[in-house]
Amino acid sequence: MDISQNYKNNLSFNIQKNLKIISDNANKFGFNVYLIGGVVRDLILNKKIMDVDILCDFDATILAKKLEEEGICKIQELKEEFKTVKIVINDMCFDVASTRCEVYPKSGCLPQIVKFGVSLFEDSKRRDFTINTLILSLNKDNFLQIIDPTNQGLYDLKNKTLRILHHKSFIDDPTRILRMLKFMFRFNFKPDICTFNLMNDYLKKNNYDICYSRIKSEFIQTFNLNKSEILDYFIKNNIYKLFIKNINKNISSINTQNIIQKYESQIKQIYLVYLGIMVENKDYQNLSFNFTTYEKKTFNDIIKISENSTDIDDDYQIYQLFKNKNIESLIVYYLKTTDNNVIKYLDKLKDIKLNITGKDLIRLGIKEGKVFKTILDKVLKIKLLTPNMKKEDELQIVTNLLAKKKF
Ligand code: CTP
Repeated sequence: MDISQNYKNNLSFNIQKNLKIISDNANKFGFNVYLIGGVVRDLILNKKIMDVDILCDFDATILAKKLEEEGICKIQELKEEFKTVKIVINDMCFDVASTRCEVYPKSGCLPQIVKFGVSLFEDSKRRDFTINTLILSLNKDNFLQIIDPTNQGLYDLKNKTLRILHHKSFIDDPTRILRMLKFMFRFNFKPDICTFNLMNDYLKKNNYDICYSRIKSEFIQTFNLNKSEILDYFIKNNIYKLFIKNINKNISSINTQNIIQKYESQIKQIYLVYLGIMVENKDYQNLSFNFTTYEKKTFNDIIKISENSTDIDDDYQIYQLFKNKNIESLIVYYLKTTDNNVIKYLDKLKDIKLNITGKDLIRLGIKEGKVFKTILDKVLKIKLLTPNMKKEDELQIVTNLLAKKKF
């Protein structure tokens, strides 16, 4: 059992000291403050703490202003609209939010806040999983006591279960599906059956509305865990489908042609496009995923195209750059560069193929060797300019070349 009975000891002396200063003063001004979310979960699980999020039962911005007036903290950032504030106290940074209720007017986009200063139970309803609703009181009567507003959080943490709070949770915020993936593989937790079924129901839809910037950050965090099972789960359970609509959106947002829509039927594994964009700055070979041969080829193709894409100025060079590359790699390259040579290749050049082969050259009495490639390339260069050439025309060109000894 990973649950720490000594979670208080996992908070360093310095953090505890600063939290005490904040809570003593907050209580003095009539506010209650709590630790919330990831920090509580990670303390109880004996995991390294990333950020310390504080929840205030009234308006956190008013509390922060009072603390600053008293010279207790410095306000680093204040968002009046969300009533959140970042404060610095003895060189330590804390995010303080106000308890609130939210609604999602549009699936996948940012929620609208309907009320601040609500109860801890009401606040917990806007959260993703029960394990992230756990609270540690910072108040003087019960300093560092666990509060479990849903009465389910501790149970789920002990049983390594990811459970959403209501049946519309994934519809409201599909990034929770990625967060589920992240927590599954970070902590070795499993979704409960109802959560798993609701994820499947959501992924059966084909119209995903999700903010690109929100999934991007969750995607990076998830895949940076660098575990091959994540990719397997991502594909087998259709989570990659979340990204199809997003790639389209991303393109239109950068004002380029809707290339994905146009070539969607030819793109075999669209998640690869997304993964390709995500891993573009990383050497994908450092990722320990079990990539298939096709996937490895896509990533190698992305690298090859990027390395050889300078000084391209004729159709033959465009053709050589993109031929035999997986279509996903062309799309990734296009999304990164908006190089119109990709469009030209896909629209005009891709299907141009020579009718003649080495066998025809042998028949014409040419000896097998390097010269084959030279001749076929010369014919191809001409064919790219006049794509309707028939086999006889190609043979005629070879005959002419032979006559002029032009190779
Ligand atoms: N949260 C949520 N839904 C989201 C994102 C966040 O309900 N899509 C809530 C959760 O209660 C979460 C808290 O906001 O614990 C803080 O969010 P964040 O810092 O992004 O997540 P952590 O749980 O701290 O995860 P991590 O450790 O990966 O930062």
